[in-house]
Amino acid sequence: MTKADASKQSDFVSDIAAIRKRARQHIEDGAMTDAYKGNREVVIKILNEALATEIVCVLRYKRHHYTAKGIHSLAVADEFLEHANEEQGHADRIAERITQLDGEPNFDPAGILTRSHSQYVAGDTLTEMIKEDLIAERIAIESYSEIIRYLGDNDPTSRRMMEEILANEEQHAEEMKTLLEAIGKNEEKKS
Ligand SMILES: [Fe+2]
Ligand SMILES: [Fe+2]
Repeated sequence: MTKADASKQSDFVSDIAAIRKRARQHIEDGAMTDAYKGNREVVIKILNEALATEIVCVLRYKRHHYTAKGIHSLAVADEFLEHANEEQGHADRIAERITQLDGEPNFDPAGILTRSHSQYVAGDTLTEMIKEDLIAERIAIESYSEIIRYLGDNDPTSRRMMEEILANEEQHAEEMKTLLEAIGKNEEKKS
């Protein structure tokens, strides 16, 4: 080991000691340490908007699940339910992360639509429902991509979570697009 390596190693050891000391001092901060480089208030606000977006998506998919009618409705209704459950999972993960950041997840029904990036459209026909879901997914994809860029290296945990959720929204959008095409083809055949 060279002298430089040895001193690097001792720096590292003393860093560890300082880190442990700080962790003990701020034990009440939970997962929050001095290593956190994000702007906590902004990140909590952004995550609460994502939470509202997910809640609106849960409600819209549930509505679509229970009201899907028509010849293709069975398979599509199942797909709507699956998405509703996955959006619920996203909402739970985001709420959990907000509490880790010492924030408060906002579940207040008043204002959910204002905080949400996506909209709630009931839709009358199966095609309309799928179209609205596809639009909502595309909005989520765009705004989550923005959030991920904003978080950058300042909050890798929130960023990773949002990246995983984004990948799932991309799957949702793809599935809605496939359903829309399948129904379109069937309608063409009938006419
Ligand atoms: Fe979602
Ligand atoms: Fe989704």
